[in-house]
Amino acid sequence: MKQWMTTLLAACGLAWACGAQAQDAYPSRAITWIVPFAAGGPTDAMARNIANRVSQELGQSILIENVGGAGGTIGAAKAAKAAPDGYTFLVGHIGYMAAAPSLYARLPYDPVRDFRAVFRFPDTPLVLLVGQSSPYQTVSELIAYGRQNPGKLNFSNAGVGSTSHLVAAMFASQAGMEVTPIAYKGAGPALNDLMGNQVDAMFDQTNTALPQTRGGRVRALGLTSARPMAQFPGVPPLGEQAIPGFQVSTWYGLYAPKDTPEAVVQTLYRAWSKALQDTQFTGQMAGQGIQMLPEAEYAPAALQRHTADEVQRWAQVIRQAGISLQ
Ligand code: MLT
Repeated sequence: MKQWMTTLLAACGLAWACGAQAQDAYPSRAITWIVPFAAGGPTDAMARNIANRVSQELGQSILIENVGGAGGTIGAAKAAKAAPDGYTFLVGHIGYMAAAPSLYARLPYDPVRDFRAVFRFPDTPLVLLVGQSSPYQTVSELIAYGRQNPGKLNFSNAGVGSTSHLVAAMFASQAGMEVTPIAYKGAGPALNDLMGNQVDAMFDQTNTALPQTRGGRVRALGLTSARPMAQFPGVPPLGEQAIPGFQVSTWYGLYAPKDTPEAVVQTLYRAWSKALQDTQFTGQMAGQGIQMLPEAEYAPAALQRHTADEVQRWAQVIRQAGISLQ
């Protein structure tokens, strides 16, 4: 064989191997994270913050696609049907990944069977908020009015099964009052109407409630955390002032369609583990009232177990709170 042919064949072989190698270098293009609430809410804010930091570790863009509606179940259903190729993920959350099976009669996905857990995010407690012109200065005043005027207090929320919906229902049930839920496509629009005094109250996660509380556009009456938070000075936990033991946080996690390869899951989890070593990044989240978790709880298997446990737990909570099936 002539020398030039040998060289050409060698070059082609090398090019093929490099090409194949390049195709195998995951991620080779932008990744999409579906956020099943409108932009501007706490889930969207948490997702964008984490996606920005994880994309730096991956060296690849992560695009947020907001798909709102039905308490997040529309976006979750879209993610469950996405190609398991490592380029579409779901930002999951306590509502549509744990409460939804007990709230929606025909849920078009199974949170445990149709997804692979990739990694858990930190948690966010919630804050009971009223508008700045609200007459209620304390949670006791709000409860007193609610008990004397059944159904008159309206609470905005992010749709059936969102934490803003579930926590308000649990709160009303345990406070012995009846409130009227007003559903939006996310806590962002729900909070906007609270600031516009279109609704009486809402429960919002700390990361988005904090700037509006500090800015004086809403008033915080109580926290769903076990202990007071430095970010909300003078605002006591509801469990200390109104309903003993009242404590709940929104949890979140990244999920992939169920047949996504393990190598993809591990690539994303490694990137997240590196981001968690960045104390400036984790400190910025903690400053928003976000609660960092023990490291082991962020792992894929831990989130998979947590999801299955929470589906069971919320079935009982929903029964006890008398929240109706949709
Ligand atoms: C909720 O559970 O209320 C959601 O977190 C709302 C949102 O993130 O928009």
